Amino acid sequence: MFQLLYISNATQPLNDTDLVALLKQARKKNAGLNVTGMLLYKDAKFMQILEGDETAVRKLFAEISDDPRHQNITVIFQKRCPTAVFTDWSMGFINLDDEWAKSIPGYTSFLETPLDSAHFVDDPSLTMQFLYIFKFAKL
Ligand SMILES: Cc1cc2nc3c(=O)[nH]c(=O)nc-3n(C[C@H](O)[C@H](O)[C@H](O)COP(=O)(O)O)c2cc1C
Repeated sequence: MFQLLYISNATQPLNDTDLVALLKQARKKNAGLNVTGMLLYKDAKFMQILEGDETAVRKLFAEISDDPRHQNITVIFQKRCPTAVFTDWSMGFINLDDEWAKSIPGYTSFLETPLDSAHFVDDPSLTMQFLYIFKFAKL
């Protein structure tokens, strides 16, 4: 099992229709690849973790990296791991700009933290803690 976590900036802000289209495409393909993960969107920034077979994850990430919908892609970590964490979804998704997201327990402490903040880039374990909050959020 292999995990890769990155952050990026949307080239243009995405509306709900754009995000749903992106997610539909991603979920279909990930299901076929046995890739799972979580995608967060906030203030035109993304954070995504991809999990699965190392070759599949690396190949998918290369494709995602070429996607013109985002830029400034920064890998926070990539590593082998014993088990996948976000196994409930082929790709979980939370739009942190939505009001309801602010009621997710534990989220408030991160509310004002931009997804590309140095805290996340410099501290991968903090980033993982942040993502764990959303593992248990009911979607
Ligand atoms: C922020 C972001 C995250 C994405 N995540 C995924 C993903 O998890 N899985 C996926 O297949 N495509 C994802 N995509 C879309 C891919 O970049 C690309 O459009 C897609 O893999 C192409 O699929 P195709 O083989 O159907 O053409 C993402 C795109 C962006 C901008």
